[in-house]
Amino acid sequence: MNNQPVYHIFSPDAFINDPNGLLYDNGWYHVFYQWNPLFPEGKRIGWAHLRSTDLIHWEDLPPALLPDDWYDRNGCYSGSAIIKDGQIHLLYTGNVRNAAGNREVYQCLAVSEDGEHFLKYPGNPLISGPAEGYTAHFRDPKVFADKDAYAFVLGAQTTAEQGRVLLYRSPDLLSWKFDGALQFDTGSPLGQFGYMWECPNLFALYDTEQQQTHAILLFCPQGLQADGMHFANRFQCGYVVAPGPFEGIRTFCGCTSFEELDKGFEFYAPQVVHAGNRTLLIGWMGMPDEEDQPSKTENWMHCLTVPRELQLKNGKIHQQPAVELQALRGSKRTIEMLTLENESLLLPGFSGDCYDMQLTFDTTQAQTVTIYLRQNQKQSIIISFADGILRVDRSHSRYAPENPIRQVALADATKLQLRVLSDRSAMELFINAGVEAFALRTYLDEDAVQTKVAVNGKATLTEAVFFSMNRA
Ligand code: FRU
Repeated sequence: MNNQPVYHIFSPDAFINDPNGLLYDNGWYHVFYQWNPLFPEGKRIGWAHLRSTDLIHWEDLPPALLPDDWYDRNGCYSGSAIIKDGQIHLLYTGNVRNAAGNREVYQCLAVSEDGEHFLKYPGNPLISGPAEGYTAHFRDPKVFADKDAYAFVLGAQTTAEQGRVLLYRSPDLLSWKFDGALQFDTGSPLGQFGYMWECPNLFALYDTEQQQTHAILLFCPQGLQADGMHFANRFQCGYVVAPGPFEGIRTFCGCTSFEELDKGFEFYAPQVVHAGNRTLLIGWMGMPDEEDQPSKTENWMHCLTVPRELQLKNGKIHQQPAVELQALRGSKRTIEMLTLENESLLLPGFSGDCYDMQLTFDTTQAQTVTIYLRQNQKQSIIISFADGILRVDRSHSRYAPENPIRQVALADATKLQLRVLSDRSAMELFINAGVEAFALRTYLDEDAVQTKVAVNGKATLTEAVFFSMNRA
């Protein structure tokens, strides 16, 4: 089976989850991720390490962290990276199951002089156990420089089982002081918003429409009830925007309501990294507790999203694949402008399982536009657009656990621009120049390669471009 992605980061012989330690330093991008090479028999979670100068050619480096100390012996859990004195500093969570089977939690540091080999700090752990009022679900430090010092946000759970994001501050990355939980308006729905918040990111983003910088809190709440089109996955990932400057922030008063960052099925625990004047993000294309994908029989599971560039427009994050990916484009097909009226059409030559395609429709006079991706006789990923609602349906594929349909309302019902990055069993969709994104795993048969469009009413395909994608 051709399941293994060609240009998405994955590990051919391991279970992987969260991207960790995303860093841009001196022309190098570093990506670490949660890595369990004992899968499917056992569990021993460390950090794998890759680096690249161009976001497409990734060099495999030795694993950065292995769970071989008393304070991380049941897993070097998620964390982040920062440069200090020219050295990469990793902050991560040591996960321990004690003799009684209870969880213990430690925040730890590792440092590298050469950017390849990491030494755990002899003074580890930096922080032992949870702060008062919180349970041992207390993890995933995301560090950032704050004025002349450092801070990190941490995912946490109160003893009353409410999710929170906590702030810690440090002058030197070694001694850390608890600065409390991020505060929201009194009575904000965020006060009771799931039982645990994982993998927070706190960062500044310039709003190109409002022409000012806002603070963004991105996190993964667990335990939300599905609500119509919202929160339909097992766990969610999204953000709130607090107006105004970022430095030293602890209050998120007046923030926007929680918006899911990606409306697909497998998207979780993303990390943000600033690289020059760009803000990039890589997410985990997986979901906790969804471990039964067909790749299990090949002894690997999950991948990461491609690097996405973020832009903030009127308080909403837009996402587009990093432009560097275009260097992987191979042969090109196009179709001239074409109007379809109550008919369907197989797009000639728009065929394969590894491609970058963009289709743009004028839908002013259409009742429904349906696009069948990766189609064969029985299977396809079905995208449909009607009454301003975009629907992604993977029920006709070999992997469709629980709820196989996700939907989103688009502000503009007059056009649909669909960019599809297909990479064998990984697919990412970017809608209307990145106003919405969908990540999904797509297990389909090898002959499921065709692209078909069908229109009820009348729609014009104003742009149709297809590139096969090469291996880096
Ligand atoms: C999120 C997560 C993190 C944790 C890591 C363990 O997927 O549960 O909270 O640090 O995975 O692998």
